[in-house]
Amino acid sequence: AVRIGSLLKDTGKVTYDPGFANTANTSSAITFIDGDEGILRYRGYPIEELTEKSNFIEVCYLLIYGELPTQEQYDEFDARLRRHTLVHEDLRRFFTAFPYDAHPMPMVSSAISALSTFYQDNLSVFDDEQIDLSSIRMLAKMPTIAAMAHRKSEGLPVIHPDNSLNLVENFLRVNFGYPSEPYELDPLAVKAMDQLFILHADHEQNCSTSTVRLVGSAQANIFQSISAGVNALAGPLHGGANSAVLEMLEEILASDDGAKSYMERVKNKEQGVRLMGFGHRVYKNYDPRAAIIKKTAHEILERTGGNDEMLELALKLEEIALADDYFVERSLYPNVDFYTGLIYKALGFPTDMFTVLFAVGRLPGWIAQWREMINDPETRIGRPRQIYTGEPKRSYTDISER
Ligand code: ACO
Repeated sequence: AVRIGSLLKDTGKVTYDPGFANTANTSSAITFIDGDEGILRYRGYPIEELTEKSNFIEVCYLLIYGELPTQEQYDEFDARLRRHTLVHEDLRRFFTAFPYDAHPMPMVSSAISALSTFYQDNLSVFDDEQIDLSSIRMLAKMPTIAAMAHRKSEGLPVIHPDNSLNLVENFLRVNFGYPSEPYELDPLAVKAMDQLFILHADHEQNCSTSTVRLVGSAQANIFQSISAGVNALAGPLHGGANSAVLEMLEEILASDDGAKSYMERVKNKEQGVRLMGFGHRVYKNYDPRAAIIKKTAHEILERTGGNDEMLELALKLEEIALADDYFVERSLYPNVDFYTGLIYKALGFPTDMFTVLFAVGRLPGWIAQWREMINDPETRIGRPRQIYTGEPKRSYTDISER
């Protein structure tokens, strides 16, 4: 077969595709999306079935190893995740050095990048055992790191993980527990967190995952590649949208003009004003994740007595949008981020943490994609081309003559 690279070299042609909207950079067996039909499957399993019957730990295993685990495989995987939750004390000290008001996303990405400094002897990208160990370390330490960033931003002491708890239970403990007391788990919170993590676990070649693959294609290790993915996710058009939705709802509630007037600003394309949590590069139909989350948002807010006013506003915005030509013509529907913030808020997370929660959920996808990339014989270093629009050749003018 002729490789595309040499084909283009021979013809001197390049494709111009801003945002890679029509360009496949890889083949992948992990996640299937049909954006027109609103279908999302991990390794062939529909997201609806996984959120109903499975749990996040099992989904991590499925994404990374390709099959649902047997009971024995599950127990071993779960035990390994519990064993690796602690981070080096020196890594913990990083958090005291960050400014008191630092956003948790850059704290998390810095800490993940720093993991490569603590495991220098185990970072070969050609050794399956080392890759597996790094994957487990990454998964197990991420909740600890994320919670450290959260507690730092609130001036609260770090809570050590309790290895009698699983990954999701522990995550709630290290975020909301008290240092010397056992943590009382709220089954509804565990279930909601688990479900949200499953829904975020992978989404094929989105911006952050493509970043992980691109950085990894230079044979950067798993921690460096994932740290880059966290930074990509931080942008407001990607993972940052979940907190932007909540800020938008707060802004509308605080204004005198209300939802309709905000929608007019959106439709007039006022600079920086979009209906956050709406629209998607791939889904031109209802995002199947949003449909599941919408239901959970109702349940959680009912049980926790959360902010109904905000949920009502979100429902109203959706209703207006789905009946409005501007949104209909552009196939703009709620995406995964439209309702998640309401749940995170009801669970007690500050708005700045929302994107970190997305990152915790997306982690198994990044790991699975990085591993698939590194093991794919077709992988070449990512190196897009460009259309040069600068000056033609010209001669240097001495500074005294300019
Ligand atoms: N509100 C208002 N108008 C919108 C919105 C929106 N949320 N999203 C898209 N549009 C409009 C654009 O202005 C554009 O209109 P035009 O054709 O008149 O120029 C048209 O719809 C197409 O939009 P693009 O920006 O070209 O679509 P793209 O695929 O590049 O962007 C994106 C997708 C970034 C998700 C976009 O819909 C958006 O900004 N949404 C709001 C932010 C958001 O919710 N992001 C989360 C995405 S999901 C995730 O990352 C997990």
